Parts: sequence; structure tokens; C-alpha cells
Amino acid sequence: ARVAVLISGRGSNMAALLYASRAADAAYDVVLVGSNNPDAEGLKLAAAEGVAVWAHDHRGMSRSAFDDLITNALLEANADYVALAGYMRLLSTEFVNRWAGRLLNIHPSLLPKYKGLDTHARAIDAGDSHGGCSVHIVTPELDDGPVLASIPVAIQQDDTPQTLAARVIHAEHQLYPRALSDYVSRPYNPEWLLEKVRTLAL
Ligand code: GRF
Repeated sequence: ARVAVLISGRGSNMAALLYASRAADAAYDVVLVGSNNPDAEGLKLAAAEGVAVWAHDHRGMSRSAFDDLITNALLEANADYVALAGYMRLLSTEFVNRWAGRLLNIHPSLLPKYKGLDTHARAIDAGDSHGGCSVHIVTPELDDGPVLASIPVAIQQDDTPQTLAARVIHAEHQLYPRALSDYVSRPYNPEWLLEKVRTLAL
């Protein structure tokens, strides 16, 4: 499968996806790294690794006009799937629907808990035993789509949002390549699966 990764900053999840894609038996290739922030750190790493990069500053444009630019870049790269990895901008409903079922995100909480920002602080303040991370299918509502996989990370008594984030990010790097590989390797046509179930039930 051909995967485009969208980032806004550091890009460590993008790097995890990229290096995992280089294993001999990998289920996907990273064909493009795109960003709404031309200064995103991760773009340098992607370029240094020989991956095509696309960046355009979103400021001064409407959301839908900007998202159309992204779609053009994705189509030009022949991307089958789009993985959001620290992409810190809301996407238009139009864009999400255009890529429905082919758009994934990683979020630093055990969804459905703590959608949005400041997830680690909220988990600590709530006295939760665990934080963690989740990979989910993107739907128009923020951080709301079906969860594909998650990893819990224990919260320690002296944790700050920063110390917890530093452990959760390792779980993210483990989780995202695995969840993406599983997802792109699933039978493409749900009819195939239904037919299989019908046949087995006979
Ligand atoms: C990650 O914690 C991700 O879950 C969140 O933003 C952070 C991005 O980090 N949405 P990086 O850019 O992948 O290093």
C-alpha cells in the first residue's frame, strides 16, 4: 500500500512509520510526507531519507482551499492511505469524507477518553491509573472515529505531563506502524469477508 504521512512538527511518529516500512516484509511504503508547516522538523528527516516531501503554509487560506491542496498532493503521489502523525490542524469534513476509510490518526490518550489537547495533564489530574495512545480511523468529529488499537501506559505517582508524554511516545512508535500495517493488510472488500462468513456458516 502507498501511504502519505501528514505532520506539523517533530515527526517522530512519521519516522517510526518510515523506518518500519523498510523492513523486507513491510505492508506499506511511505510515498509522501506532507505538512502545513514548512518549518516542521520532520520534513528534514524525510527529505534526508529520500522521501518526497510537500509543505505549504496554511495561513491566509480557507480550510477547504488548503485541504484541496493536500488532496492534490496526495493524488499526485498516488497515495492509497493517509496517516496523520502529529498533524495539528483540523481537517474539513469534505477532506475527511474524500479519504473516508483511508485516513488514520494517532492520539496520545486511551480513546474515547481525552479527545483534543493536553491529554496527559487531563489523565493525571483525573487520577487515572493509565494514560496511553490510540490509533483510530478519522471521521469528521475530532478524535472520534473507530479505535483500531491502543497501548496503556501506567501513570506513576510523581508523573508530570512531560514525564508521562516521554513514555507514551515510545508506545506510540510501537503502536502506529503495527496498526497501520494491520489496517492496510485487511481484506480490501468487506463483501469478501461476509461471503467467507456465510460459507463457513453453512
Ligand atoms: C504525538 O504525541 C501525537 O500522538 C500527537 O502529537 C505528537 C506528535 O509527535 N498528536 P511527533 O511529531 O510524532 O514526534
